[in-house]
Amino acid sequence: MKKRVFSGIQPTGNIHIGNYLGAIRQWVPLQAAHESLFCVVDLHAITVPQDAATLKAKIRELAGLLIAAGIEPKASILFVQSHVSAHSELAWILNCFIPFGWLGRMTQFKEKSQKERMVVSAGLFTYPALMAADILLYETDLVPVGEDQVQHVELTRDVAQRFNSVYGETFKLPEAFIAEAGERIMGLDDPTKKMSKSETQPGHAINLLDSPDDVRGKIMRATTDSLREIRFDEKRPGINNLLVIYEVFSGLGRPEIEAKFEGKGYAYLKKELAEVVVESLRPLQDRYHKITADPAYLDSLLRDGAARARPLAERMLNKVKEKIGLG
Ligand code: TYM
Repeated sequence: MKKRVFSGIQPTGNIHIGNYLGAIRQWVPLQAAHESLFCVVDLHAITVPQDAATLKAKIRELAGLLIAAGIEPKASILFVQSHVSAHSELAWILNCFIPFGWLGRMTQFKEKSQKERMVVSAGLFTYPALMAADILLYETDLVPVGEDQVQHVELTRDVAQRFNSVYGETFKLPEAFIAEAGERIMGLDDPTKKMSKSETQPGHAINLLDSPDDVRGKIMRATTDSLREIRFDEKRPGINNLLVIYEVFSGLGRPEIEAKFEGKGYAYLKKELAEVVVESLRPLQDRYHKITADPAYLDSLLRDGAARARPLAERMLNKVKEKIGLG
């Protein structure tokens, strides 16, 4: 039996190299040996206010980017969360099994609710229940995510265990699958903060669709320190972050990278890094423009993905409803 992989990404803001290095890049090789589902989580996106037309455009953009990054919509199941209603239904049920206190402890909720200047929605609070539903509907074994989502995967395991202990073996317990490098890419303007789609300062993130000049400009302006030595050192977050980005895009080992930059200045590192990033993004952007040139085809791929996900999800949802005596 092939193991099953599930992961999701929100169609909000601009998809950046943190999303790519921490998550999407991992998804591509996993497809070959596993049964994989990748989901554009639009219902998660509306936990904070969204403009309708922008959201619709971002869903397509993200699907196009995922295909351009190497997700194969025929081999994997690529779909939009709101197209499979079982996600919302199971989320409600799980909401009734998750203690309030567990949700209040979620770091992402604490951070986002402090940042949101508008009213914090109940949806933002119960967001992990929807994420748990996404994962548990498909008897998922592995959840490839960046480091910031590990706490949500742990909550998913906890609620699955809780349900299983009351109703008997129902849900499979998933495991988070974390990249060996790049699991937490930091902001270029402030390397003490995670690179995030919701930060809007111009020099914060390198987006997958940035032009070569934008990439160069952002990297050249990245915050570093006043020391000279170029080596991996978590106590020096600016240089460390640039080196980690270089490491993952170049595929070189750490000793080799440190040797390459020995005795060189920060400007040299930044120039080299900018070229590696530009050259890595170029083929992805070319593929993206080809794929999105035919929106009807892209939509048909997403419809097909939902049609393949739906029976799997409904089977699990029916099993759960049966166990708890619904309907
Ligand atoms: P989202 O959309 O914020 O991010 C998508 C993926 O990118 C990773 N990521 C990062 N990795 C490294 N460095 C960073 N700076 C960085 N920023 C983001 C995230 O960890 C994530 O893997 N709740 C999820 C989406 C989701 C999901 C799911 C994921 C919904 N349902 C089910 C897995 C399984 C989220 O908001 O990701």
